Amino acid sequence: MSNTVHPLAGVVGWPIKHSKSPVLHGHWLKRYDLTGEYRPIALPPADLEDGLRKLAKKGFKGVNITIPHKETVLKLADSITDSAALIGAANTVHFHADGTIGADNTDGYGFIQNLRQNALYWNPKSGPALVLGAGGAARAVVWALLNEGAPSVRLANRTRIRAENLANHFGARVEVVEWNEVNEAMIGATTIVNTTSLGMEGQPEWRIHFDDAPIGGLVTDIVYTPLITPFLKMAQERGLETVDGLGMLLHQAVPGFESWFGRKPEVDDDLRQAVLEA
Ligand code: ATR
Repeated sequence: MSNTVHPLAGVVGWPIKHSKSPVLHGHWLKRYDLTGEYRPIALPPADLEDGLRKLAKKGFKGVNITIPHKETVLKLADSITDSAALIGAANTVHFHADGTIGADNTDGYGFIQNLRQNALYWNPKSGPALVLGAGGAARAVVWALLNEGAPSVRLANRTRIRAENLANHFGARVEVVEWNEVNEAMIGATTIVNTTSLGMEGQPEWRIHFDDAPIGGLVTDIVYTPLITPFLKMAQERGLETVDGLGMLLHQAVPGFESWFGRKPEVDDDLRQAVLEA
């Protein structure tokens, strides 16, 4: 069977059974009636490099990369895109015809596309952004906001040193604000993003309110379980526009799918339903 008529791709993680990527790519393969396969692949950290090189030899075109490999994969890649280098992690790798491995990060792209699709009038340049959290997801979000021309990013994290490290990495447009001053930091912030796990089900309530957020500001949460997190619910009650985080997961998958299977897929309600039901 030739690669060109039956492309192979997948997602590599450890463990892998929770990944929604196989459902997502499987939905698109079926919908566009494409031949090809997208497989979940479990590789423990010690086997990552060998495992990836074996997949390349088997004819895989590339794979998505998930926990815990997103940072370590950069060390073994032969080439790294600017976004992956600046975010310090990769979620997509491509196996090139010459045997080399290229690493890319589409999480920031997914974050922006989700907002563009669901908040038509959102303009990242219209004012400062406020980002809560300083983990891996926050790095992608901060990179994306700066790349889209946000004039500045206010960054708040429970553990301040992590926010400072992230701010130092991205330079003067990122300003650290105190975790207990998040409510004040909303003043004038036109894009407000939660990247912490605080909004998830089962997490303790937090003392945040949107009283000082500007009307017309956009609020989003990268957590999508539940779809409407307490963070988004509070923002809605204040009359702010909100976008849930599921679209970021869906949109980050688009570039890989297009490159491996030869068609740019659409992110629509059918896809959302399929992933939510998985
Ligand atoms: P990810 O890569 O998904 O962003 P992470 O690196 O574990 O995951 O980061 C999780 C984020 O949620 C961090 O910003 C973390 O804050 P700390 O750096 O202080 O740990 C934040 N977070 C998790 N639980 C929290 C809580 N109960 N209160 C405040 N922040 C919390």
